[in-house]
Amino acid sequence: MKTVTGIAEMKRVSQDLKKSSKKVSFVPTMGKLHAGHIKLVEEAKKYGEAVVSIFVNPMQFAPNEDFNNYPRDLESDVKILSDINTTCLFYPPNDIVKNTETFLTDPKYSGQLEGIFRPEHFQGVLTIVMKLFCIVAPDFAFFGLKDYQQYVLIKKMAEDYFLDVKIIPVKTVREKCRLAISSRNSYFNEGDKKAACAFYKALKNTADLFKSGEKSGEKLTSFVIKELIESGFGIDYAKIMDKGLNAEKQWVEQGDILLAAVRFKGIRLLDNIFFE
Ligand code: PAF
Repeated sequence: MKTVTGIAEMKRVSQDLKKSSKKVSFVPTMGKLHAGHIKLVEEAKKYGEAVVSIFVNPMQFAPNEDFNNYPRDLESDVKILSDINTTCLFYPPNDIVKNTETFLTDPKYSGQLEGIFRPEHFQGVLTIVMKLFCIVAPDFAFFGLKDYQQYVLIKKMAEDYFLDVKIIPVKTVREKCRLAISSRNSYFNEGDKKAACAFYKALKNTADLFKSGEKSGEKLTSFVIKELIESGFGIDYAKIMDKGLNAEKQWVEQGDILLAAVRFKGIRLLDNIFFE
């Protein structure tokens, strides 16, 4: 695996891959890699040469959030990536964000769901992803569906700016108990992690209620909120929307999505489920 730390060098590596008729398949991450990231890289490898970036992006954390404590483990990350035959690790310098004066925002999609609780988060995400796209110039880029709003926004950004990159969604990887795998799960002790598994269970019970005939958005939303409260979660939001995140649904249809963010033992968790 090639490790690249310079911006000009990364551009060169990507150009060289393309000159030899290879496709560049990009997985941006913030490191502390887990099974969810491995799945993204495995998917990326099906489309071309896997380039993975590791950068904990300060622009997407508010001052009161966990930027300083965000889990980091470069040594283990390098081993994981090299064991799964990643072509290139891009570990950008902090200069990548220094002195940035222009930012990407999206008032429509960012102003809801996560955006209400993390008002500058998506500006930070879109801006860093655009910067990384400009350096890596990928043919394909891979994003996990756990962060569904992020996926929708990045796809929209790629369309709005006519980027030559295809955004590929990748299914959420889950623990045995179906808790979505996330770097922040490492903040939990074993007992609390077990209890956090009730999060997905509440979403799944709601999807099952839909399957058994309940189509009212209000009733399904009340149901999931009740289940989450009973399991001890604090709720930031639980909303049923169309898959394009344009509107909340009064009458739920197949293909709509339930998105939720909860707080448990001081940790914030995100997850979602599609209605089938
Ligand atoms: O999903 C993440 O890990 C981050 O938001 C991303 C896309 C790497 C941007 O920093």
